[in-house]
Amino acid sequence: MTTSTWVAGAALLLVAFAWQRKSRARAGPLPPGPAPLPFLGNVHQLTGKELWLVATQWAKRFGDVVHLHVFGQSLVFLSSPEATFDLLDKRGAIYGDKPALVMAGELCGCNNMVAFTQYNDVFKRQRTLLNQAFGSQVIPSYYPLIQAETHLFIRRLVADPSDYIKLTRRYAGGLTLSTVYGYQATSSNDKFLNLGEECVDILSNGIASGGGIWPVDIIPALKHLPTWAPGSGFKVKAAAWKAKMEEFIDQPYNFVKNSLKSGEYAPSFCSMLLEDEKSCTPQYEFDLKNTANSMYSASMDTTIVMFSHFLLAMLQYPEALVKAQKEIESVVGTDKLPTFSDRASLPYIEALLNEVYRWATPVPLSLPHRLMEDDIYRGMLIPKGSLVFGNVWAITRDERLFPNASAFVPERYLETVDAALARKRDPRNYVFGFGRRRCPGDNLVESSIWLLITTVLATLDISKAKDDQGSPVEPKVEYNNSIFRLLDRFECDIRPRSEHALKLLQDEC
Ligand code: HEM
Repeated sequence: MTTSTWVAGAALLLVAFAWQRKSRARAGPLPPGPAPLPFLGNVHQLTGKELWLVATQWAKRFGDVVHLHVFGQSLVFLSSPEATFDLLDKRGAIYGDKPALVMAGELCGCNNMVAFTQYNDVFKRQRTLLNQAFGSQVIPSYYPLIQAETHLFIRRLVADPSDYIKLTRRYAGGLTLSTVYGYQATSSNDKFLNLGEECVDILSNGIASGGGIWPVDIIPALKHLPTWAPGSGFKVKAAAWKAKMEEFIDQPYNFVKNSLKSGEYAPSFCSMLLEDEKSCTPQYEFDLKNTANSMYSASMDTTIVMFSHFLLAMLQYPEALVKAQKEIESVVGTDKLPTFSDRASLPYIEALLNEVYRWATPVPLSLPHRLMEDDIYRGMLIPKGSLVFGNVWAITRDERLFPNASAFVPERYLETVDAALARKRDPRNYVFGFGRRRCPGDNLVESSIWLLITTVLATLDISKAKDDQGSPVEPKVEYNNSIFRLLDRFECDIRPRSEHALKLLQDEC
């Protein structure tokens, strides 16, 4: 690209920017926020590491609706239950879009993955499929699969506790493959697990590296660069990534279709939605296989965050572990593993699960929604095209809702409070995102994570690792991911509670 093209492009951006700011001034004041630099905006204040901490400081200084911009692109952070409910939930019809990304969506082919689809007909068709096969009333039909994957995971964990992160990835991948495709991964070198891992790696460390915004997203004309031109390396990468992701869209889907033909299949998301052959138009199949494929990457990091924070909480708050184990012993006994039918009789476990959701806060800024038209809120203008973030971190750490918010205290969920306060304190109203884009895996997670932590508590002891002198090793708590609250691996000691517990797990084989 020549210098004159850059200058012309920059001039155009400046004009567009000046026009945009002028038109905003007419419609109403923007929400407050940190002072921007001319043209560049607040680019210098955005950090790739734990941005939620900075966003929460802004909320303390400027209020629960904060506005920033980067080169004229508005970013809005909502940091209270009121603001997230009012805008992302109640006005969900205009806050349900996602940014159109040229690199991720168009060039890498992610624009048909649920988390990337814009608020259009494809999105609505995908949501219908998700409600049909992952709605709360359908989840019990997955119980046998969830149970099998959970017990398998815990047996593997007992065999190799030091590798708990890798095993959790495998568990999350295995559970998704079995519930979505009815496919049982039998070895740690399974072809679909490997392909899934490769695609998750492409998404997190390739496409979404550096926040997922590429130069071509800012100057879309760059997509027309020929692949031999300097600076077109992104096109070569995109083509290779797209091809790999297409393999992962097609192969497990073909597996389900072949199993259905042979008549030997485990009931799954896909088999349920393929039962009526007459509805299998090419468009239906296209929607179905893209929707199915979206689940794998969406479930991976979130599950790891939940499980590793559960382990961390059990190390740091052993009194909660003991109370939970006592409740399980008194309700379930020690002669069987917990099952879903025990759930209603285990209130402390329920409180502990709530607190894991709150304390872990797996996606602290949720995923941004794109506002589809200008909106006025409390007299302030939120401009069309704004990327709006629900600041889940600020809410789950709000001392007015959660006194001593940084501590892990399941008991806070055993208090009786009125319905309005209970709604504000329920972490499920935030950690799964908001409005029309709320996580469609929430019902599945509600069952799978419950069984996972309850069975771990019933069968394993978790404590701090010991050094050579026998002194406890404090876990090192570090976060290095810009979207998920992924903990770096920390030392911990995981072992069966007794020979009897181990036998119960083995007898499940
Ligand atoms: C503890 C586990 C999980 C948490 C905390 C979680 C959280 C989230 C969040 C915060 C979003 C963004 C919502 C928004 O944009 O407002 C999301 C989206 C999504 N999640 Fe989950 N998730 C979890 C597990 C799963 C699982 C197991 C699946 C599938 C089996 C799944 C499938 C999806 C999909 C497809 C989307 C995109 C939805 C859309 O953009 O319309 N998630 N999730």
